[in-house]
Amino acid sequence: MSQAPAAAASLVTAPIPLASLADTEALAGRIARALRGGDVLTLGGELGAGKTTLVQAMGRHWHVDDGLIRSPTFSLVNVVDLGEFDLVHADLYRLTGPEDVISSGLIELLGATDCVCVVEWPDAAQGLLPPNTLGLTLRLNGATGMRSAVPNAELAARLT
Ligand SMILES: Nc1ncnc2c1ncn2[C@@H]1O[C@H](COP(=O)(O)OP(=O)(O)OP(=O)(O)O)[C@@H](O)[C@H]1O
Ligand SMILES: [Mg+2]
Repeated sequence: MSQAPAAAASLVTAPIPLASLADTEALAGRIARALRGGDVLTLGGELGAGKTTLVQAMGRHWHVDDGLIRSPTFSLVNVVDLGEFDLVHADLYRLTGPEDVISSGLIELLGATDCVCVVEWPDAAQGLLPPNTLGLTLRLNGATGMRSAVPNAELAARLT
């Protein structure tokens, strides 16, 4: 039987509109339900696109106390024990390359089966991320103020 061409990874997935914080909350719940230990989820998008807001909404899904999930820009990595796994929330904005990720210790956590790693500003970790890394790019249209989110193929497959 012939198989579909192996083009799935290059398919452009449809943007998910985030017209309100309620939409972000709903998407965060869908993502949180789809995650399991060992997953790495990168969050792309410009300053203020809504990356940390999405992680905070995921935290509410997991009943994490408000305030435990903060922007980790200065601490680099926050770890929250969720029982089933640790949520590792990282923000690599201030890192310049893979050597910084290695010296930060985050490298040990990426893909560890007792962790879910959610990484804002993942560029410095390119080349260190495990295969099948899940990805979401948050977009904010400066002209219209409209927000949207584009999952990579791996995340889109999990969300179906
Ligand atoms: N879906 C949304 N609807 C309305 N406002 C939102 C939405 N998502 C995020 N915001 C608002 O946008 C602002 C910036 O959000 P946030 O801090 O999550 O961005 P970020 O992408 O993490 O930024 P940074 O790159 O600085 O880490 C916050 O005031 C937040 O409340
Ligand atoms: Mg942030």
